Amino acid sequence: MVRQYLQLGSRTLSYLDNAPDAAGQPVLVLVHAFPMGSGMWEPQFRGAFHGWRILAPDLRGFGGSTDERAEHVDPSIDDYAEDVIGLIRDVAHGPVVLCGLSMGGYASLAVMRRAPQLVRALILADTRATADTLEGRARRKAMLTVLEHDGPQGVARDMMPGLIGATTRAGNPDVEETLRLLIKRQSPAAIRDAIVRMMERPDSMALLPTIQVPTLVIVGDEDTLTPPADAEAMAAALPQASLVRIAGAGHMVNLEQGQAFEASIDDFLASLPA
Ligand code: MLT
Repeated sequence: MVRQYLQLGSRTLSYLDNAPDAAGQPVLVLVHAFPMGSGMWEPQFRGAFHGWRILAPDLRGFGGSTDERAEHVDPSIDDYAEDVIGLIRDVAHGPVVLCGLSMGGYASLAVMRRAPQLVRALILADTRATADTLEGRARRKAMLTVLEHDGPQGVARDMMPGLIGATTRAGNPDVEETLRLLIKRQSPAAIRDAIVRMMERPDSMALLPTIQVPTLVIVGDEDTLTPPADAEAMAAALPQASLVRIAGAGHMVNLEQGQAFEASIDDFLASLPA
């Protein structure tokens, strides 16, 4: 695994790459959740998805990626779509399998709206296609206040109960520690803009029936942030979807039940036309 940097106009996009010298390998792009950065995918860079080149960007502002947003320009989920599109165009050089977890799923749906020709198959993990409800927006606003007063650490503290499932909480405390470290290292500005991007994102339910590529929907069966009902609603609206529920996982399924997560994706990748 190597950290690479791509220049996109005046911005720098940082990304993890398992095989920078690989030419001709199929590409899987992994898009991270809020507010983590590409580091949340490190377990998947330890040998998963054999035969695939894996790219995992830091969405703008997170990790090593810069964000040059002008003060008068409102943050939009489309900004993250542009990051992913730039990576696919300049590094993958062709259609990829795109996998987004939670906020990464929101960004992936924005890619499907803007540049569907760059995606040959889609994986939506622990995410939803609906926009924020009024209650959800109120929770985002409360989180902006927490961020202002307590910084990323406060966000990690308040989010933690929703991020992991009961099984992980009881049996695998390392996951919680990993998440805390991933969140603490992010900049307050990146977290603030991400909250606004999520809060203002459009509803994508009407987009789903137009998605004409094989799609895998994954959900941890203990996910309370984006629960299995959301995954079922997406799978029902997608023309070519299969749904996998992962036992013993909450929202951060790739960290909580990594092997089951990887196995479901391996099966899906093997089912795709060459
Ligand atoms: C995430 O995990 O990316 C966020 O919790 C998603 C959200 O808050 O909607």
